[in-house]
Amino acid sequence: MEAGEEIRSFKVRAGRLGPASQDALERLWPVFGVAPPYSGLLRDRPLVLEVGSGMGEATAAMAQADPSTDLLAVEVHPAGVAALLRRIEEHGLRNVRVAQDDAITVLTALPDQSLAEVRLYFPDPWPKAKHAKRRFLRPSFAEVLRSKLGPGARLHLATDCLAYVEHALQVLQGWDARVVERPAHRPLTRFEQQGLDAGRPITDVYAIPARG
Ligand SMILES: C[S@@+](CC[C@H](N)C(=O)[O-])C[C@H]1O[C@@H](n2cnc3c(N)ncnc32)[C@H](O)[C@@H]1O
Repeated sequence: MEAGEEIRSFKVRAGRLGPASQDALERLWPVFGVAPPYSGLLRDRPLVLEVGSGMGEATAAMAQADPSTDLLAVEVHPAGVAALLRRIEEHGLRNVRVAQDDAITVLTALPDQSLAEVRLYFPDPWPKAKHAKRRFLRPSFAEVLRSKLGPGARLHLATDCLAYVEHALQVLQGWDARVVERPAHRPLTRFEQQGLDAGRPITDVYAIPARG
């Protein structure tokens, strides 16, 4: 990321946490939460980073379906972090860690070529042209992503915003980026359901960085 990069891909939301969320954060954050400098996350198994895990339904489902892969879920909003912590406890998951931070900060801190996949499911679309610069996928972030993906590892984007697909394919020029059929292993997410309810088509994109 370039020095001075301050345009965030998320809105900072105010709001109080309910008692169940507070309890989850107090009890479970020390067990499953990770904080800067984000070291010690690598084990002898694939590590997948999810950008913007929201309320964590899909994260928990993927972790349960594939216990041999470690998932690092990154979400800025405490209510989403708390919800995922509760799901981790409820399902007895041992392969999920949660970071409450800007995903670009977390990505930057990880060792180069350390990730088996990056999942970007229903990123905030920022559909108005004047806000497009806030989209998580932007050239400077794509460069960070590229450096953190291991050999053959991919970015998996799913979105209900066609403008985001076009934007992504443009930002990922020079990658092997293509629209794919919805993969069966990707669980339905909360925001995907909202998109479907509103009649919007869903697009999945796989992108592998070209190696120079
Ligand atoms: C539209 S929601 C989608 C949530 C979930 N992936 C789903 O499909 O239901 C986007 C989420 O990304 C989070 N987010 C946006 N920018 C982020 C960033 N830079 N780092 C971490 N989380 C981010 C937001 O807080 C929000 O929860």
